[in-house]
Amino acid sequence: MRRSNKVRVDMVTLWCVLSLLTFLSVEASGTNPGAKLRVTQKGLDYELEISINPLREKLKTIQIPNMSGKEEVLFMDVSYRVSSMQIEEVLMDSTAVGLVPGTGVSLSIGKAYIDLKGNWEVEYLFIDDGGWFTLSIFDIRISTTIGVNNDGQGHPTVYAASCSASIGRVEIDLHGGLSWLYQLFDSYINSALLDALQPQICTMVTEAINSINPHLKTLNVLAQVDKYAEIDYSIVGSPFVSYSGIDLGLKGEFYNIGQHQEPPFSPTPFSLPAQDSNMLYIALSAFSLNSAGFVYNNAGVLKLYITDDMIPSSCPFRLDTKTFGIFIPQIAKQYPGLKMEFLLKAAKEPNISFEPNLMTLEASSTVSAYAIQPNATLSPLFILNMNASVSALIYVSGLKVLGKVTLKKIDLTLNTSNVGPIQVKLLDNVAWTILNVAVIPRVNALLKNGYPLPAIGEMNLRNTQLQILKDYVLIGTDVQFGGVDLPDVL
Ligand SMILES: *[C@@H]1O[C@H](CO)[C@@H](O)[C@H](O)[C@H]1NC(C)=O
Ligand SMILES: *[C@@H]1O[C@H](CO)[C@@H](O)[C@H](O)[C@H]1NC(C)=O
Ligand SMILES: *[C@@H]1O[C@H](CO)[C@@H](O)[C@H](O)[C@H]1NC(C)=O
Ligand SMILES: *[C@@H]1O[C@H](CO)[C@@H](O)[C@H](O)[C@H]1NC(C)=O
Ligand SMILES: *[C@@H]1O[C@H](CO)[C@@H](O)[C@H](O)[C@H]1NC(C)=O
Repeated sequence: MRRSNKVRVDMVTLWCVLSLLTFLSVEASGTNPGAKLRVTQKGLDYELEISINPLREKLKTIQIPNMSGKEEVLFMDVSYRVSSMQIEEVLMDSTAVGLVPGTGVSLSIGKAYIDLKGNWEVEYLFIDDGGWFTLSIFDIRISTTIGVNNDGQGHPTVYAASCSASIGRVEIDLHGGLSWLYQLFDSYINSALLDALQPQICTMVTEAINSINPHLKTLNVLAQVDKYAEIDYSIVGSPFVSYSGIDLGLKGEFYNIGQHQEPPFSPTPFSLPAQDSNMLYIALSAFSLNSAGFVYNNAGVLKLYITDDMIPSSCPFRLDTKTFGIFIPQIAKQYPGLKMEFLLKAAKEPNISFEPNLMTLEASSTVSAYAIQPNATLSPLFILNMNASVSALIYVSGLKVLGKVTLKKIDLTLNTSNVGPIQVKLLDNVAWTILNVAVIPRVNALLKNGYPLPAIGEMNLRNTQLQILKDYVLIGTDVQFGGVDLPDVL
C-alpha cells in the first residue's frame, strides 16, 4: 500500500515537473507569432475532395500474399492454395473530415468497398482442381486521427495518430469447381484473407497521410521579397486545433537578406476571430509590417533625392531658389538663380498601426534642402524634421499583399538653418505638394510590387477578402491547388 502510494506521488511529481518544463520551453522559445494561418472545416473538406482519389489509388496497391493450407471439409482432407490476388476496384462512400480540438483532424470512411480477383487450387482424394474467384468486401470502415505538428524546421507536419479499420461482410464468387468449395472459403479462406488485408488498410492510410508531408514542406518558410528583404514564415510553437480550425502561428517577420537582426519591438499577442466561412485565413500583424520598416531602414533605402525634374510641368512652382526665396528671402539673395534639390530620409523606421478598417503609417524623417551650384556642388540650406502620416489601402493580388498610400497629414519643424530664421509654417503647402507629386507616386509604385503571402505548392486564391482589425489584417480566402489532380495528397 505504502509502496504504491509512493509510486503515485512520484508519478504526480514527475507529471508536474514535465508540464512545468513544457510550459517553460514554450515560453522560452515562445516568441509570439507575427502572422497566423487558419485552416477551417471548409478547407479540410476541400482537401478531402482532392485527396480521396490518391487514397483510393493507394489502397489499390495493397498486396495480398498467396495463401495455402489444409482443412477438413465434408470429412475430406482438402489442400488449398489461393494466389495472384489483386485488388480491382476500391470505392469510398460516406467520407468525412472533422476537427478534433487539441489533436488534429479525424478522417472517417464509413463505407468503402473493395473488389478483388484471384486464383484458387484444391487437392482432395487425388483430385486436382482450380479456377478463379472474385471477392467483394463490403462496409469497410476506416477511422483515423491525423495529428498536426511542427517539424522543428518551421514546416507543419501531419502524422497518423490513430487508425482502425473494420470489415463488414464478404461475398465470393467462384468460377469453376464444385459448390461445396464455398464452404471451404466461408469457413477458412475468407477470414485468413481478411486477416491479411485488414492491417494493410491502415498501413496504406498511414502512408497516404505521411505522403502529405513533402507537400507541406513547400511552405515558403523563407520568401524573398526583393534584393533587400526576405520574410520568414516558419511555424512557431505548436499548431492549435479548435472547432474553428487548425491555427498555425507563423513568425511573419521581415529580415535583411542573410542578416537576421531582431528589431527593438516584438509581436503583441492577437487571436483570430471565430470566422470559418472561408477555407483559409491569413492574419498579418502590425509587427510583421513594422519589421519590414525596420529592415528597409537598416538597409539604408528609406531615402529619396527629390529633384526638379520629378516635379511635373503642370505644377505652379519649380524647385529653385526663386520659389523658396519667396518664403525664405535670404535664399534668393545668397543663391540667386539656382536649382534646388532635397533629400528626404527616414529618421527611424516608420510605424504602421491597424485600427478597425484603418491602416495608418507614420513616418519621421528629415528633409535636407540644397542649392545646386553651377559646378554641381550642393550647398546645404536648411534641414526640416517632418512627420508624415499616410493612410494605406491594403489588398491581395495573386499570392501577394499590395498597398497604396494616401497622404493625410504632415508636421514640419526646423532642425537646422544656414539661411537665417525660417517660418516653417509657410512651407507647409509647398511640402505637401512636393510629397504628393514626387514622393507618394514612387512609394505606391514600390508597394505595387507587394510581398509574398505564406503559400504551399501551387496554391491559387479565390473569393479573397481582407479586413483590417485591431492590430492585424485578416485575409479570408478559398484556395485551389494548381492543376486538377494533386498527386499523393490526402
Ligand atoms: C503467388 O503465386 C503466383 C502463382 O502461383 C506466383 O506467380 C507468385 O510468384 C506467387 N507470389 C509469391 C509472393 O510467392
Ligand atoms: C505606433 O503607432 C501606434 C498608434 O498610433 C502607437 O500606439 C504606438 O505607440 C506607435 N509605436 C511606436 C513605436 O511609435
Ligand atoms: C563650386 O562652386 C562653389 C560656389 O561658387 C564654390 O564655393 C566651391 O568651392 C566650388 N567647388 C568646387 C569643387 O569647385
Ligand atoms: C514627430 O513625432 C515624434 C514622435 O514619434 C515627436 O517626438 C516629434 O515631436 C514629432 N515631430 C514633429 C515635427 O511633429
Ligand atoms: C535633426 O535631425 C537629426 C537626424 O534625424 C536628429 O537626430 C536631431 O535630433 C534633429 N535635431 C533637431 C534640433 O531637431
